[in-house]
Amino acid sequence: MKIGLTGGIASGKSTVSAMLHELGAEIVDADLKAREVVAPGTDGLAAIVARFGDELLDSSGALRRKHLGAIVFADAELRAQLNAIVHPRVLRAMLTEVEALEAAGAPLIVLDVPLLFESRQQYPVDTQVLVWVDPATQLQRLQARDSSSEDEARARIDAQMPLDAKRALAEHVIDNSGSLAATRRQVEALVARWTPSSERGLLFSFEGIDGCGKSTQLRRLEAALKDRGWPVLTSFEPSLHPHGRRLRELAEQGKRLSPEAELELFLLDRRQHRDETIEPALAAGRPVLIDRYYHSSIAYQGARGLDPARVRAANEAFAPAPDRIYLFDTEIDICLARIAASGRSTDAFETRSWLERVQSIYRTLDDAVIVRLDAALPQDMLAERILADALALLSRR
Ligand SMILES: Nc1ncnc2c1ncn2[C@@H]1O[C@H](COP(=O)(O)OP(=O)(O)OP(=O)(O)O)[C@@H](O)[C@H]1O
Ligand SMILES: [Mg+2]
Repeated sequence: MKIGLTGGIASGKSTVSAMLHELGAEIVDADLKAREVVAPGTDGLAAIVARFGDELLDSSGALRRKHLGAIVFADAELRAQLNAIVHPRVLRAMLTEVEALEAAGAPLIVLDVPLLFESRQQYPVDTQVLVWVDPATQLQRLQARDSSSEDEARARIDAQMPLDAKRALAEHVIDNSGSLAATRRQVEALVARWTPSSERGLLFSFEGIDGCGKSTQLRRLEAALKDRGWPVLTSFEPSLHPHGRRLRELAEQGKRLSPEAELELFLLDRRQHRDETIEPALAAGRPVLIDRYYHSSIAYQGARGLDPARVRAANEAFAPAPDRIYLFDTEIDICLARIAASGRSTDAFETRSWLERVQSIYRTLDDAVIVRLDAALPQDMLAERILADALALLSRR
């Protein structure tokens, strides 16, 4: 993620970029680059001397920056000529460094560019952040930092695009008028927003008709990940929260609610499951494995006659989407035989035609995160495949 950071003079860009650096971001600083591209020996310095004369060099051959600054401050035409020399070189130097950081895998790269909005160079950033301060505070901080008079400070501020005009151009605004702590909180909130995936755990669901072997594979993945030190949380639906218990009771008694009422109860259970079990684990960065999740509702309540698209929408409105779905599929006969062999009595709902309806809806699911698995394959082979996939996903975070 590439972030363009900008602001006005003494608005707090360097302060905010130091905070971002502490929070793990890489900073690419246009002010530093602007010095480097006109250092002795550069073609940038040669171009400046060719245009402005060599009285701009001091005895060591370095640029007299203050002197040049005074010249261009007073003359817009000269300023444009200087910018035409410096800006493209700064952009090129910035991009070279950004590319190197991206190649090294830096997740958060901040381009600190005071003239992000004024310069005609296009910086390839994903979002822009403006460090804003109220005018009185800006004036006072600039004077204090540079020990300048009010008139000097005012002149430098007035030479820039007003901060309120930049406000309209930036996606995010950090109000740096208050304390450093208040600014830090805003910076932390932005960083959290940009790096959710590196901090959140991943959600894996195991789906398929009864008897297909998903619970066995879930336990194997749980054990294999725990062996490797992953703080896995496993769960299932219906959950052990009150609505889930109610659903289990009903199933044990062979009672069926109407499809609508059943869906309602599943949604209530899933909300509670999300709030009390799934979300806290994900927020703590734990991988979460769930035996059945909302794709079961789509398939099972769909098989009872509800519109699968509507069941999906009702779930996606609140339930975090799984990062991976292992969907087990195989001949119905194999599943029925496994149910029989497990000694579990086949209930009325595990009849062939019912399972066929459920399976046919499972087969229409087209979520990009689905991995379809032939449940008839040897268990070791399935376990190996699932573990390799899960580890690849976890390491890509
Ligand atoms: N929230 C704050 N509270 C108090 N002082 C602050 C705060 N933020 C910045 N300052 C001070 O204000 C001055 C200007 O901040 P800073 O140097 O970060 O601004 P800048 O936008 O990088 O300026 P420049 O345009 O000159 O690069 C500094 O002296 C800094 O220590
Ligand atoms: Mg600065």
